[in-house]
Amino acid sequence: MIGVFDSGIGGVTVFKEILKEMPNYDYIYYSDSINNPYGDKDKEELIKITEDIVKYLVNSGCKVIVIACNTASAICKEYLREHFSVPIIAIEPAIKQVYDKNAEGKTLLLATKGTMDSEKFRELYNKYNNKMTYLQECGGLADLIEADKKLEIKQYLKEKLEKYKGVENLVLGCTHYPLIIEEFKEVLGDVNIYHGAKGVVKELKRVVEVNKIKPGSGKIKFIDTSKKEAKANRFWQILKD
Ligand code: DGL
Repeated sequence: MIGVFDSGIGGVTVFKEILKEMPNYDYIYYSDSINNPYGDKDKEELIKITEDIVKYLVNSGCKVIVIACNTASAICKEYLREHFSVPIIAIEPAIKQVYDKNAEGKTLLLATKGTMDSEKFRELYNKYNNKMTYLQECGGLADLIEADKKLEIKQYLKEKLEKYKGVENLVLGCTHYPLIIEEFKEVLGDVNIYHGAKGVVKELKRVVEVNKIKPGSGKIKFIDTSKKEAKANRFWQILKD
């Protein structure tokens, strides 16, 4: 069994990619929407939250954990790896992908405050050629996506991103953001979009192989901490789309 978690429905954008390549494993998707947003929480609080989630997933039989959240990955992955013996896979903004494909193109990188303020993010950012990169923190955006507030999302993007029209590359450094790709394109035009999900799948495949974790029967269990039925409906809908 493989455990995947995020502060809600955003991590489904990663989970979907995992399922495309590894449909025969059993999964628990843990949507911690009651604690959404993670992006504004301090390190101590986020460590406590994610430690409890990983404990729960391990006790439920998960042999690998995927942190399908950039914020929790940037802030908590080291702590979690030190405190649990199961492999823990993290996601990071796709800065390297841009570097490999179009390092000289104007790039806009969006992420939560938690991710952008983190040491891990700074390390990653400084490692690659970023002279053409604009960084924009998007406080409040993951919350709007989580609540599915379509009009407010459009308004938010217009106000915050219109000034970046003309960038070639858009890095979505939060797993909630790929849920609104069309809305980004409405404001920014036809940009090349990058996110970290593919990197997670590659690493998960490697870890599963190295640790000889056996496939199951393709069962998926969905858990949402706010216990709202709408969350489950949205989860299955995104997987189907
Ligand atoms: N989906 C998360 C991320 O990738 C966090 C969003 C939030 O809860 O602030 O950063």
